[in-house]
Amino acid sequence: MKNSFSPVVRYFLSILFLTFSLLSCKKKDPGLKDVFSDAFLIGTCMNVTQINGTDLKAKPFIAANFNSVTAENAMKWERIHPVPGKYDFAVADSIVKFALANKMFVVGHVLVWHSQTPDWVFQDSLGNPLTRDALISRMKEHIFTVVGHFRGRVKGWDVLNEAVDEDGSLRKSKWLEIIGKDYIQLAFEFANAADPWAELYYNDYNNELPAKREGILPIIKDLKQKGVKIDGVGIQGHWHLDSPKLNVIDESISKYASLGLKVMITEMEVNVLPTPPEVYGADVSQQARYLETLNPYPAGLPDSVSNQLAQRYADLFGVLMKHKDAVTRVTFWGVHDGYSWKNDWPIKGRTNYPLLFDRNYKPKKAFYSVIKTAKN
Ligand code: XIL
Repeated sequence: MKNSFSPVVRYFLSILFLTFSLLSCKKKDPGLKDVFSDAFLIGTCMNVTQINGTDLKAKPFIAANFNSVTAENAMKWERIHPVPGKYDFAVADSIVKFALANKMFVVGHVLVWHSQTPDWVFQDSLGNPLTRDALISRMKEHIFTVVGHFRGRVKGWDVLNEAVDEDGSLRKSKWLEIIGKDYIQLAFEFANAADPWAELYYNDYNNELPAKREGILPIIKDLKQKGVKIDGVGIQGHWHLDSPKLNVIDESISKYASLGLKVMITEMEVNVLPTPPEVYGADVSQQARYLETLNPYPAGLPDSVSNQLAQRYADLFGVLMKHKDAVTRVTFWGVHDGYSWKNDWPIKGRTNYPLLFDRNYKPKKAFYSVIKTAKN
């Protein structure tokens, strides 16, 4: 068929077509990890649904956006060592295998903690409290077995989680009660003996707040003075739209770094739901009662709150980028909003929006505000 358009019209039509195609072809978003490759590692935690492939999208998405992985639950005592003498490494092994196949830095979470640790750990076979020596041997056996199993694959361990209370005093855990305060030193020494090449961390929530921080700093100083290996401090970063204040985070990173520690944000998210202040921490044993008023956005987050979240994330990353020499890793506690533990903690059954990706893996406004901070 004869082309009925003149060459000039054809020329303009093709320009129009080209412009339209370019505009409609959506630019691919960069991988989050690549945006921050000059600053710090970007991590996520992984759960069973993601690693066993029930959610087909999870693995490729994680590999594209993150270069560090922490098992959300699979390495905790109750999962990896559920009954005396029996270890279950299956889920943790799959996570580590996936992470290493994708050249990710694997974090071991966690060796010694008061939560998600079965009661039998502190009891003898008759249910009586263990003696100090027996609990030390049990802790040593656990650390040697778990750290030994992952030696050379897990590059950094949360050796001790949440050992200090809000007022800076030692948490009255069974570990402290039965062994005494040197359980802290022993945990780090055992971990170091089990894998001398692994980095060793102290991890906590609210440890950017002055009272808790001032309790933790002398413990770390004391370990260092005694020549006990400790490489870093994890600030969990279970944060909110309105707290903590940026200057508090800023000051705390400086203080920890001044002890020669690497600083990591290990479980970052920003809660957007109204939450009673008494459950502003992250003690997994706490719970609050469900009320409709505490779950205001079941059908979607209003733009005004999305904007607030984006601004909050930009501000937080502004502080982290300022300290990029000290901060070695920022790990998000969840791949996307649907996976966040904040949908069920501290109140079960809410709809929260605390991460950078929505329930369909789509980057949120907060994602774009965060990546902008890398360029400044
Ligand atoms: C949370 C997990 O995300 C939940 O799936 C689990 O039910 C409870 O623990 N501090 C920590 C993490 O160190 O291990 C916790 O993870 C959140 C608080």
